[in-house]
Amino acid sequence: MKKVKVRVPATTANLGPGFDIFGASLSIYNEVEISLIKNSTGTFTIVGEGKTILPRNEKNILWKAMDSVFGLLDVRDKYKLSDFNIKLKNHIPLSSGLGSSSAARAAGIIAANEICGNKLSLREMVDLGIKLESHPDNIVPAFYGGICISVAGPDNEFIVEQLPVAKKMKIVVCTPGFELATERSRNILPLKYDRRDVVFNSARVALLTKAFCMSDFSNLAKAMQDRLHQPYRAKLIPVMEELISSALKAGAYGACLSGSGPSMVAFCSSNKAKEVLSVMAKIWKRETVPVKQFILDFDSNGAKIIK
Ligand code: HSE
Repeated sequence: MKKVKVRVPATTANLGPGFDIFGASLSIYNEVEISLIKNSTGTFTIVGEGKTILPRNEKNILWKAMDSVFGLLDVRDKYKLSDFNIKLKNHIPLSSGLGSSSAARAAGIIAANEICGNKLSLREMVDLGIKLESHPDNIVPAFYGGICISVAGPDNEFIVEQLPVAKKMKIVVCTPGFELATERSRNILPLKYDRRDVVFNSARVALLTKAFCMSDFSNLAKAMQDRLHQPYRAKLIPVMEELISSALKAGAYGACLSGSGPSMVAFCSSNKAKEVLSVMAKIWKRETVPVKQFILDFDSNGAKIIK
């Protein structure tokens, strides 16, 4: 019996102005254990996040990612869902802007590749992941770990660069108790932008890159400002601006929407993290919205097969 266990981190995308470009890997993980049990009746177990709503059939995106690998390697006829026992232990909240779908896809790709004898390189797996996700900013750090910049080339080939991980920085995450589908949060965005807004964001992407490269976070609050997606998404998360300004007042270096939301993230020194979390959580509580709270580190490893 072939068995593979994969651990994949959560991710936060955009980091403010780096829409569809920047993403960072965070220290909450989903674990997947997959056993090939040919000639038997497979099982699909889910514990933790999504256990009551995620499909346990061919519609599950982890299985779809496995199936894409089988397709790419031309072995689709050899494997069907019932050939596997699949166990998901999910810690990443669903549809929350923390990369749960990327984590599922990365886990499926890595597990299926291992089952097929490790035929795909890491880069080939990442490229498949980007294709399945349609944008690179969550899936790239889910594979590589750290803070990643993904730049599409002329044939949709991606250049990937990593920025140094700020080891002492804490990432405070507040996840309100409602889900927001990425599709809905993308459909609300305009198709065209005013040149001034594009320049505003380009300038901040430069500042953001400098901040992480130099580990100098004195301008991070400004570097995380955005005019391409957050102002539009604020309609779906009305307390967004208040959360950002309160996190900054409480001592965060910078704060922004996590991916397409609704989680909000604040980046701070470890001695400020609890206070920042408490002021952010209070705002959601005042709105009578339940909130999941995390104080995390950057993850430097990305998705890994574990023994
Ligand atoms: N860059 C994507 C977006 C991330 O903001 O829509 C989706 O999580």
